[in-house]
Amino acid sequence: MITLTGLVAGYGKAGDILRGVDFTAPTAAITCIVGPNGAGKSTVLKVCSGLLDPRAGQVHIGGDEISGRSPGDILRQGVVQVPQHHGLFPTMTVRENVMLGAYTRRREKERNRRRYQEITEVFPLVAERAGDKAASLSGGQRRTVEFARALMLSPRVVLLDEPTLGLDPKACAQLGASIRALKDSDVTVLMVEQNVRFGLTLAEHAVVMESGRVLHTGDAKALLADPDMARLFFGAAPEHSEPS
Ligand SMILES: Nc1ncnc2c1ncn2[C@@H]1O[C@H](COP(=O)(O)OP(=O)(O)OP(=O)(O)O)[C@@H](O)[C@H]1O
Ligand SMILES: [Mg+2]
Repeated sequence: MITLTGLVAGYGKAGDILRGVDFTAPTAAITCIVGPNGAGKSTVLKVCSGLLDPRAGQVHIGGDEISGRSPGDILRQGVVQVPQHHGLFPTMTVRENVMLGAYTRRREKERNRRRYQEITEVFPLVAERAGDKAASLSGGQRRTVEFARALMLSPRVVLLDEPTLGLDPKACAQLGASIRALKDSDVTVLMVEQNVRFGLTLAEHAVVMESGRVLHTGDAKALLADPDMARLFFGAAPEHSEPS
């Protein structure tokens, strides 16, 4: 669980971008933040991962306050942001790329071997392609391996900023399955998604942001089905589709 309370943040000497953000993303569930460009969605994730210090307010995971700590400290507290582009080393194998996720705990060889084993059960693709170079994977498969690597540190919270960016529909479907697998391994998933239909179909909980504030929090499917909300935030009622 990750909880944001009265979060105020901005860049440099400029004014506040986040102007009092409150919400909770529960454990073993997917929470999706949606809202127009510039609403502050990515800024929320930057504060959660420690790349940006809040000017006021707090971020807690479980009972521990993480706001104001360094990115390294926050990573050790179990918050991992999955990088979006070129996250894998193409000439290294899938297994080597996944194992790199435990680089900061590289001395714990037995623990890492066990963890890798568990991860291959969550993502069978990792076992199937373990010896292949990452360069030989499709876009969607690469994203899956990036998730697998993020799991090596047994994170409590995984942050995803627009994971579908640049993926075709087939890869998006694969990605959807990978994100569900993350959630099923008892992780809090907090994601931002421009593809509102994809994000809200996948997620249990929705957070709607606009101009640095939270306009609405609630059930993701209910938001997707609500014609007023759809008109208000997305211009038109979204068509129905399920990521498989
Ligand atoms: N590094 C930065 N320095 C200064 N201003 C920034 C920086 N990053 C973002 N901003 C500003 O903060 C505001 C919120 O940006 P943010 O990236 O959080 O929005 P977003 O909701 O993720 O938008 P998008 O959907 O376009 O990704 C924008 O006005 C943006 O210009
Ligand atoms: Mg963004």
